[in-house]
Amino acid sequence: MTEIKKIGILTSGGDCAGLNAVISSVVSSAAKFGWEVYGIHNGTDGLTESPLSYEVLTENNFADTPWPRIAGSYLGSLNKGVKMESQKVVSERFGKGVAELGLDAVVVVGGDGSMNIVSNYCHNAGVKMVGIPKTIDNDTPLTQYSVGFNSACEVCVEAIDALWKTARSHQRALILEVMGRDAGHLAMHSAVAGFADVCLVPEIPYTIDGIVNKLKSIKARGRNHAIIVVSEGVRTETGEMVSNTTNLIGEKINGGIGEYLSAALNAKYSGFQTRVTKLGHVQRAGDPTAFDRALACAFGARAVELLKEGHTDVMVALEGDQIQTYSLSDVVACGTTKLDANSVYVRAAVEMGMYVGEIRK
Ligand code: F6P
Repeated sequence: MTEIKKIGILTSGGDCAGLNAVISSVVSSAAKFGWEVYGIHNGTDGLTESPLSYEVLTENNFADTPWPRIAGSYLGSLNKGVKMESQKVVSERFGKGVAELGLDAVVVVGGDGSMNIVSNYCHNAGVKMVGIPKTIDNDTPLTQYSVGFNSACEVCVEAIDALWKTARSHQRALILEVMGRDAGHLAMHSAVAGFADVCLVPEIPYTIDGIVNKLKSIKARGRNHAIIVVSEGVRTETGEMVSNTTNLIGEKINGGIGEYLSAALNAKYSGFQTRVTKLGHVQRAGDPTAFDRALACAFGARAVELLKEGHTDVMVALEGDQIQTYSLSDVVACGTTKLDANSVYVRAAVEMGMYVGEIRK
């Protein structure tokens, strides 16, 4: 077993609150073993582009600085997708970059997509890797929570609370479109915590009539305002994607379902004026909550420990109050974790009287 002396750390995919706490934790844990830590800039780009882009990280970068306490990624991140056919070429460049810096292993802080793509690079290039799950979508497999989800929920709930005030003043049904890509965890968690009236997620079919009935019942009880939370990955009632926008590699990007709902509701029911708020990237940039900071520190420390113990090709994961380790191949094989229609939060929503779509009993 080669003794580790130098590791790289990179953040990959959409940023979120808590990334800097992870980096800080990895740096201080590695320092205890006398390892050098190279911070790779802009996801894998820092290792695959010429010249390489990185910096040596010491505890001074973080101790006594605001960095561990704020969102964003100190190192920069990369969220542009990589075409399958380009992956082999990028893997080679990645391997060369790792060799040029003399890294013995890399810690990759990423979501489901990054665990898949970067573990491929590492596998092809024979580089040791430990993954740390982060994403506001909370859809990375095998971990109960990913860093960043809790903080993003906080931003969404703050928005709901704010919207509730103005909805009440103007007797409106306000629609909040939140992120989450193709998973409804962020929407459902926030809708329950924000006491919303309707929550639509990609995993549960819905009808416009179902929403209208809910709005009518609110009116019948004498309330003149309502809050509707919709996840960006929700499609039209008949299953079409609303957005026509694509990313750099031609994949469709979500967005616009709030406007669709507003128009569809207005066409069927005039009981409430509707307005739409698309929360967008502020969801990734709130202050990291205590939960996310603590999770980030626990994941970072365990990732370094795993490398010290000689492990590779694994991801750390939260299960109850324990940190578990899963092989990256198992993580990748699981794909994306969707919201379970039987989860405690969906059941709580139903118990609260929220319309969450057409759930089969
Ligand atoms: O995966 C994290 C995420 O924030 C999703 O919730 C969202 O759909 C996507 O990233 C947005 O990505 P971009 O940064 O490319 O706009």
